[in-house]
Amino acid sequence: MPHILQVGLGDRSYPIYIDDGIMATIGADLARRQIAKRFVVIADDLVARLYGSTLLRSLRDAGIAAEILSFPQGEASKNLQVFADLSSRLAQMGIDRKDGLIALGGGVTGDLTGFLAASYLRGVPFIQVPTTLLSQVDSSVGGKTGVDIPEGKNLVGAFYQPKAVYIDTAVLTTLPLQELLGGLAEVIKYGVIRDYDFFVFLERHLDKLLCLDRESIQEMISTCCRIKAEVVAADERESDLRRILNFGHTIGHAVEAASDFTIIHGLAVAIGMVAALRLAVANELCKKQDAGRVAALINAFGLPTEIPTHLDRDRIKKYLLSDKKTVAGSVFYVLPTGIGTVMITNEVSESQVDAVLRGR
Ligand code: GLY
Repeated sequence: MPHILQVGLGDRSYPIYIDDGIMATIGADLARRQIAKRFVVIADDLVARLYGSTLLRSLRDAGIAAEILSFPQGEASKNLQVFADLSSRLAQMGIDRKDGLIALGGGVTGDLTGFLAASYLRGVPFIQVPTTLLSQVDSSVGGKTGVDIPEGKNLVGAFYQPKAVYIDTAVLTTLPLQELLGGLAEVIKYGVIRDYDFFVFLERHLDKLLCLDRESIQEMISTCCRIKAEVVAADERESDLRRILNFGHTIGHAVEAASDFTIIHGLAVAIGMVAALRLAVANELCKKQDAGRVAALINAFGLPTEIPTHLDRDRIKKYLLSDKKTVAGSVFYVLPTGIGTVMITNEVSESQVDAVLRGR
């Protein structure tokens, strides 16, 4: 039986289904729900090769017309040129408002396809089928869509919710280890920001999770999606509560950018979470013992906790100040006040930030 959750957004509410092998039953479910008679699956070339035929078969067997469009794999494709190319191809295929799009892939595919769905013909329905742990626990839920421009990541986009999210945990077996670890950083984030019991679950199930034990993985993903759904339902457009999801991301994004993106997002978030915990301890918001316990779990999952010494600290600071969430030159940090609760503050001194960037 799949885990079924709901993102409660009034008439834009939608379900999240989590199960091993669910890819093969998506067609039947979409046919029953009558979302569209024809779907275009959008995937990068690698994911299209791995899972495209399973998904197309599932759709066609259920009587749904389906085609696939692919684009070159990688963050470099999340741009306005690929967006324009895909838009033209949809128009050439005669896709109309009654048709739908399916994002099959990781965060790049989900963000790009979601933005395409929000904009093409001023909006067509879309479905998320995330295939990386990071996109399964974070980006496929909540309706943030968009592309990068040379001035920065995700600077052009829209809030646009999918009609459903189908999470197939079986696909994690083909995920490179680094990608899995990156996703686990976001998983730990949920425990720290909102759920002490989930944090304890992660401590206790560490070995099983790293071996991709089916039940533990499903429970883990389901809890993350439940927390994300609660937060998004309370604050869809990130004016308040949703900002807590940025725990570890303020310094994390700056580290990611200063490394010229050689440190992948999730690993940078792990480093950023430890840095935020140090800021919380320095401000007497969080007990040293709690901060140590979170850092120990991050480390036990094989994630980094320190900013690599070769990264230029001034460059990291420059990126911190230019973050798109910086307001009037003031950097806001999500700081834990214990395990399971956080607060958002800009009352962090420059000397504390300097000390943390030096790993102290
Ligand atoms: N990934 C953060 C958010 O969806 O708000």
